[in-house]
Amino acid sequence: MIAPLGYLWNASRVPSTYSVMGMGYADYGGGPADEHGGHAEHASSGWDGPPPQPGDVSVADLTGPADGTPDVDVTLTARRERFSLASGEDVDGYTVNGSSPGPEIRARVGDLVQVTLLNDNVTGGATLHWHGIDVPNAEDGVAGVTQDAVPVGGRHVYRFFAEDAGTYWYHSHQVSHEQVRKGLFGTVVVEPENGSRAELDAVAVVHTYDGRRTVSGRSGVSTIEAVPGDRTRLRLVNTDNSPLRAWVTNSHFRVLAVDGRDVNGPTEVERKLLIVPAGGRMDVEVTVPESGAARLDVGAEAAVLVGPKGGRPGKLPVAPTDRLDLLSYGTPMAIGFDPTSAERRFDYRIGRRIGFLDGRPGFWWTVNGHMFPDLPMYVVDEGDVVRMTISNKSGDVHPMHLHGHHAVVLSRDGVAASGSPWVIDSLNVEDDETYEIGFVADNPGIWMDHCHNLDHADDGLVAHLAYSGVTEPYRVGKDLGGGAANQPE
Ligand code: C2O
Ligand code: CU
Repeated sequence: MIAPLGYLWNASRVPSTYSVMGMGYADYGGGPADEHGGHAEHASSGWDGPPPQPGDVSVADLTGPADGTPDVDVTLTARRERFSLASGEDVDGYTVNGSSPGPEIRARVGDLVQVTLLNDNVTGGATLHWHGIDVPNAEDGVAGVTQDAVPVGGRHVYRFFAEDAGTYWYHSHQVSHEQVRKGLFGTVVVEPENGSRAELDAVAVVHTYDGRRTVSGRSGVSTIEAVPGDRTRLRLVNTDNSPLRAWVTNSHFRVLAVDGRDVNGPTEVERKLLIVPAGGRMDVEVTVPESGAARLDVGAEAAVLVGPKGGRPGKLPVAPTDRLDLLSYGTPMAIGFDPTSAERRFDYRIGRRIGFLDGRPGFWWTVNGHMFPDLPMYVVDEGDVVRMTISNKSGDVHPMHLHGHHAVVLSRDGVAASGSPWVIDSLNVEDDETYEIGFVADNPGIWMDHCHNLDHADDGLVAHLAYSGVTEPYRVGKDLGGGAANQPE
């Protein structure tokens, strides 16, 4: 037994620095191989990935607009510190401009957004990833993939146009399983261009600090003042690692948007349970009833009341058992591309098995039967229509997040979507489920496609989508000095 085990152990070792283009093997999904020389297996091209070819473009050059005065200009300072939640409790973690969640960024469609990240004292380094905003690749904020992490005393400027109205969030994508859990995040709202902004519009960002569930930084029940008949848009954001169970009491409601994309023809529903995937967002419209207040619950006795001042929380409402199924919610309409004529068809089959991950024995996640780092690199050409089947036989739920793109859910367990186009960037894939999604490869770069249970990502549930002809100048593991090295997960 010693020989084979020794062999497996060696094969599982990950070098201290490497290019994600050197990981695993290329999966062309039935489309043409990369004409630029190919993303060969690391066995042949090495951990640096394939050498650049003439005409290739570097991730570092796929930036947002270099010129132009920003319409929204924000400086965000990341800090490691003890701080107080808005509801008063002390937390040892990370802040942005002194608080967690960090400041909410509000922009309008068409705005040029500029954010300067300063790292005050986060010794591990930090970045900002714009979760759900399909920014140009070099603005995506992934340490070791789209930039180097910002060391203490350093800065990084992000510039992009706000193109799609909706609810998003930002978070560090450096040692993210720790930095996000401990507070290094905030929200972004992009309002429609001619902003018929609802009179009541509030972000309800849910995060659990040291086991304490909060909504927008407050534990317990907080109140948004409103009068009977008022409609309020509550922008639910799940920044935790587990699916968020949310429900509305004392009001019917509509789901206006999912992951920053409007639902077509959302109908009023009542007593339905919402499941917001880790990283996902849902904009929920509640109407203040004639008496009392509407209440949005997010479990663990954290809730938001929408109603008159002094409204009473009442007794703790029970969660409905019946789920709102987005597969059939709303009204169908054209999705803008034809998934039946896809140029690429990929599988993202998640399993689990006993083996060695970077020399550590354990029960690890697999993708298409392979363990990290031997994972697929999904290769596309710009303009391809892509179909991906995501299935899960791993015994756990995985909130799958593809960077830089939105995808349309085509089916679940063989049942075709029948409601509004269900457009996602974060999809809860439960054990034994199979989803088919489709998207257009319209944003060149090298993009993470990973589980947003960030502990699972840290345990190797991370693949990438690469456009042919794009080269990777950054290195995971690269030493940045002062104790920081690129470590996206
Ligand atoms: Cu919310 Cu890879 O990120
Ligand atoms: Cu997972």
